[in-house]
Amino acid sequence: MKPRAVLAAAMLAALFIADASQAQAYDAARARQDWVLNCMGCHTADGSGIPGKVPALRNSLGHFVSLPEGRQFVMRVPGAANSALNDAELANVLNWLLATMNEQSRPASFKPYTAEEIAAYRRPALTDVARTRMKLVKELQENGVNAVPEHY
Ligand code: HEC
Repeated sequence: MKPRAVLAAAMLAALFIADASQAQAYDAARARQDWVLNCMGCHTADGSGIPGKVPALRNSLGHFVSLPEGRQFVMRVPGAANSALNDAELANVLNWLLATMNEQSRPASFKPYTAEEIAAYRRPALTDVARTRMKLVKELQENGVNAVPEHY
């Protein structure tokens, strides 16, 4: 591991131990920087996305992570899975997104992503994003959740 990655992992581990139950295992400054450099260009600054092209990451990820397959979907879309972020960095950005842009949709039982979980599931990246997403949206609808749009 690069020193930077070791440092990031150590910081995340410290935060996680400090507050494991509060779903706050993220370093906000670091996440914001990684977001700006790796995600924001497509998903826009406030995560609203671009109608018809790029989905919003605001107010919907919390619903996805309430489903086991949805929890993996979030890290396996190509933009996340194939990003330059290492596992700890991707976990950090996703936890930050869930805490700052998805407070309402995130289930109370949400457990923060860990670098180990990301490492285990991020690859292979999904090749059938649209189909997987539609299946998850239908499952959410069956659970009474209609907040995630079928088309973005
Ligand atoms: C090059 C543009 C681009 C970049 C950069 C990008 N994404 Fe995406 N993202 C997309 C598009 C387009 C989709 C729609 C699915 C697809 O076509 O892959 C998407 C879908 C998603 C989804 C699924 C949301 C939904 O409602 O279906 C998540 C989660 C996501 N991206 C997270 C990220 C994260 C986190 C980063 C940064 C590490 C990132 N993306 C970087 C373009 C991008």
